[in-house]
Parts: sequence; C-alpha cells; structure tokens
Amino acid sequence: MIVCICNNVSDRKIRQAVDAGMTSMVELRDHLDIGTCCGKCHPSAKRVLRDCLAEN
Ligand code: FES
Repeated sequence: MIVCICNNVSDRKIRQAVDAGMTSMVELRDHLDIGTCCGKCHPSAKRVLRDCLAEN
C-alpha cells in the first residue's frame, strides 16, 4: 500500500526503514522524503510507524 503518494513511499518501505533502526517521523522524512510535499500522508505514516515499532 502506498502511504505517501507524492513521494511514492509504501508501508513496506516504512517497515524496512524501521527494521533498519529508524524510530521517528523525522528519520523517515530525512531518509524516505515521506511527508515533504503536501503532508497529507503524515497521520497514516505515523500510524504505520507506530504499528511497525509495536511489532518489533
Ligand atoms: Fe506524502 Fe503528499 S502524500 S507528502
């Protein structure tokens, strides 16, 4: 599922980033550019991040 349409970032990419050690939206933004355009993906990206962290 694509989470950030502007930058073509999927939930899978977020999961891979969390597996690589990222734990915050700031890190996801810096590494994946998520939320850097329209910003509409921020709430769903945050939810995916939280779910991924909870699973780890
Ligand atoms: Fe992520 Fe627009 S959908 S910045």
